[in-house]
Amino acid sequence: MHNDIAEILITEKELQSRIAELGKEVAKDYEGKTPIFVGVLKGAIMFFADMVRATPIPCEYDFMAVSSYGAGTISSGKINLIKDLSADIKGRHVVILEDILDTGNTLRFVVDHLMEKEPASLKICALLDKPSRRTAPIEADYVGFTIPNQFVVGYGLDYDEIYRNIPYVGILKPEVYKK
Ligand code: PRP
Repeated sequence: MHNDIAEILITEKELQSRIAELGKEVAKDYEGKTPIFVGVLKGAIMFFADMVRATPIPCEYDFMAVSSYGAGTISSGKINLIKDLSADIKGRHVVILEDILDTGNTLRFVVDHLMEKEPASLKICALLDKPSRRTAPIEADYVGFTIPNQFVVGYGLDYDEIYRNIPYVGILKPEVYKK
């Protein structure tokens, strides 16, 4: 599996140190508000687990599942809602935790969907941001790392469902997805 990685883009240590900073920032902004953190499955799972532990304030969490990529490396643009929230977020402060903001199609869909549920506020915290690929009008309120336009896997991010359990963020060798 590691042999398919061309280069480590963000090490485990760099991930944890940036998440510790993000957690402190979010905790400060939401002190006294008991926010609901919404994880967007499946890619966000590692980031979600580390981020909530780095945010030392009372909070709740919930999950949504959406999918856009299928087996390719390019977003199809069509988003499918696989699982909606369980919690009622009306009047609540919601923070979406997402692994990557790429074209923006997924988060545009998620934000539009959640806004219909009338939260008191809604913010986006994205571990990775690839602004060069954005086609949908959306930006994150908190960003872990801004990255170049390369196909990355690991720390929750997959290619064809594989590589999610790699503990760092790495650039996948092009020959893996051009096979
Ligand atoms: C990936 C990733 C983001 C989305 C970002 O999810 O986890 O949710 O793509 O891309 P976009 O900004 O171009 O929409 P994917 O649909 O592959 O599902 P997954 O989270 O289950 O891996």
